[in-house]
Amino acid sequence: MGDLLVKLYALPDPAPSLARIRAAGYDIRRPLPPDRRAVVRWVETHFGERWAGEAETAFSRGPVACHLAVDSAGGICGFACHDVTFRGFFGPAGVAAEARGRGLGTALLLRALHSLGAAGYAYAIIGGSGDDAFYVKATGAAPIADSTPGPYGIWGAQT
Ligand SMILES: CC(C)(COP(=O)(O)OP(=O)(O)OC[C@H]1O[C@@H](n2cnc3c(N)ncnc32)[C@H](O)[C@@H]1OP(=O)(O)O)[C@@H](O)C(=O)NCCC(=O)NCCS
Repeated sequence: MGDLLVKLYALPDPAPSLARIRAAGYDIRRPLPPDRRAVVRWVETHFGERWAGEAETAFSRGPVACHLAVDSAGGICGFACHDVTFRGFFGPAGVAAEARGRGLGTALLLRALHSLGAAGYAYAIIGGSGDDAFYVKATGAAPIADSTPGPYGIWGAQT
């Protein structure tokens, strides 16, 4: 489970992925500070306390360094953070198990990566991807050699 490098200057157009999820009644939005507790609670329920800690950190950035996939009632179905634990990194990100396979993960990924590009980065790193096939297909990301364990593993283990 290594890290992946993504060219932000050669990202796919996000419009088709957004149109696909909108046609199915979903959308992508950036949460505001009043959403903080609900978002952190949702991430902890679905993906555990470590990712919840990172999602919480996204709210200390301005603008909030997180995007949500929401259903037609505004309910959270997925999330994607960037620039949280390490600068220029994408993640953590996840879609609720029952909402997967509908394009939400791709729409979140492209929205977050385009945000990183707009912030001035030329490349982004997908940290400890856990699912290389998904990211390679959606973005053309390339594995970074010898990136296992990456910064989460090395720096996370140091005192
Ligand atoms: C990875 C994840 C975010 C994908 O979300 P999703 O909403 O199911 O993704 P999409 O529906 O946009 O899938 C996009 C494409 O990738 C494919 N895909 C999804 N998961 C895949 C996998 N595990 N392996 C290969 N392809 C995959 C889908 O088939 C789809 O292809 P299609 O458009 O031709 O049908 C979701 O599976 C997830 O939350 N996983 C657990 C958390 C995780 O691993 N997060 C990443 C680490 S930060």
